[in-house]
Amino acid sequence: MEKKKPILFGVYPNLEGKVPWVSLLTGAPSKVERLKELEKYLNLNDGAIYIKRDDKVHNIYGGNKPRKFEFIFAEALLKKKKGIITLGGIGTNHGIACAIITKELGLKCELFLSLQPLTWHVQRSLLLYDYFGAKLHFTKSFELGLLKSLLYRLFHPKYFLMSIGGSPLLGVGTPLGSIGFINAMFELKNQIDRGLLTVPDIIFVAAGSSGTTAGLIAGCQLLGLKTKVYAVNVSQDIVVNPKAVIKIAKKAIKYLRKRDNGIENVDITKENFEIIKGYLGSGYGVKTIKGQNAVDLIYKLEGKKSDFKLETTYTGKTMAAMLDFLGKEENKSKNVLFWNTYNSNDLDKYLRETKFDFEKLPKKFHKYYDKKLFQCWQLSNCPKEIRNKCLAYLNHEYRFWKVTECKLEKDKQSIIKEKLSNVIKLEET
Ligand SMILES: Cc1ncc(COP(=O)(O)O)c(C=O)c1O
Repeated sequence: MEKKKPILFGVYPNLEGKVPWVSLLTGAPSKVERLKELEKYLNLNDGAIYIKRDDKVHNIYGGNKPRKFEFIFAEALLKKKKGIITLGGIGTNHGIACAIITKELGLKCELFLSLQPLTWHVQRSLLLYDYFGAKLHFTKSFELGLLKSLLYRLFHPKYFLMSIGGSPLLGVGTPLGSIGFINAMFELKNQIDRGLLTVPDIIFVAAGSSGTTAGLIAGCQLLGLKTKVYAVNVSQDIVVNPKAVIKIAKKAIKYLRKRDNGIENVDITKENFEIIKGYLGSGYGVKTIKGQNAVDLIYKLEGKKSDFKLETTYTGKTMAAMLDFLGKEENKSKNVLFWNTYNSNDLDKYLRETKFDFEKLPKKFHKYYDKKLFQCWQLSNCPKEIRNKCLAYLNHEYRFWKVTECKLEKDKQSIIKEKLSNVIKLEET
């Protein structure tokens, strides 16, 4: 598969060799598509909705992480580290990406995982970390995870500590992940110049640790674009706030200018972006009604034609914010771009190989499998021949009755649906 040098090195040749970089992206430039069914549904006037398909940016795990890792992991390799330590919630996508890419690069992976609401996504993620060879450490809270990972790093100097989401935390840590998204913005500008889309008025993006957001904002300013970034807060105010975003963006620009002082010293201000609040629910990872409805709507409108799907922690909430925005009459002529930060490659084929054997995980994680059942096949006792062919078996978090032709008798289906709707609680925002 062809892997391409960052566009940033083409624009600023002095950066090559001075900014660490390892080739990981197999799907760059990622496609830009127009969401015509959604445009129709929203009755836009002359506005357009585009999606940046970063979900396919890497052949095993797409989404926003590989763009960050091209620069962060290159630094680890340069420092001759033998592994990566990182942290997140027990269902962290960052952890899955880290496990997959460390494996690709022949590095070890140590994940410090803290509690988040238990869902099928969490059960699935734990099995996948293990499948891709990561070592799992359990912590009760994020703060404890941070402490434990710092201690681990202290005793294992040959490991590279990557902060949560690959972004600086409270100003501490490398801005290299955001440089991946400055590069992504240059990639988008190239697509604009080639006539694949018009300059977006607004980019909607999910903000978890804010590194993606900061990189996109810095990129827009370096390119002199009018585009405003709308970052939807799906995690905590302490990491997703204007001050933190500006700090990361400035740090990234400073890093680049230190290596090429010909790069313009652009300012980053609150006018360049908005932090959108009100879509999180009561906390990170919580499923909200608006988020789930956005996932279902996009699946219904675009799912038959397109091979991406949203999820309820990041992209569903971000889409919910975008739908509300475009629902307002005064916004119906805007050009917006939805930056798809979630992987859409099939990981279920790997999950099937785990045979759902959660007992292989460290004991502390077993309790997440015996109390709550989230999937129809955990309740149905479907015969093996049906189960193994069924799309819903070991499948993703989408509600099975929306994605599969169920072979069970109708009355059994409705009993299961009823039971599951009591388990998968959706929150009002
Ligand atoms: C699917 C998805 N979208 C968005 C984000 C948020 O990116 P950032 O941490 O750079 O704000 C994450 C982070 O884990 C993610 O997994």
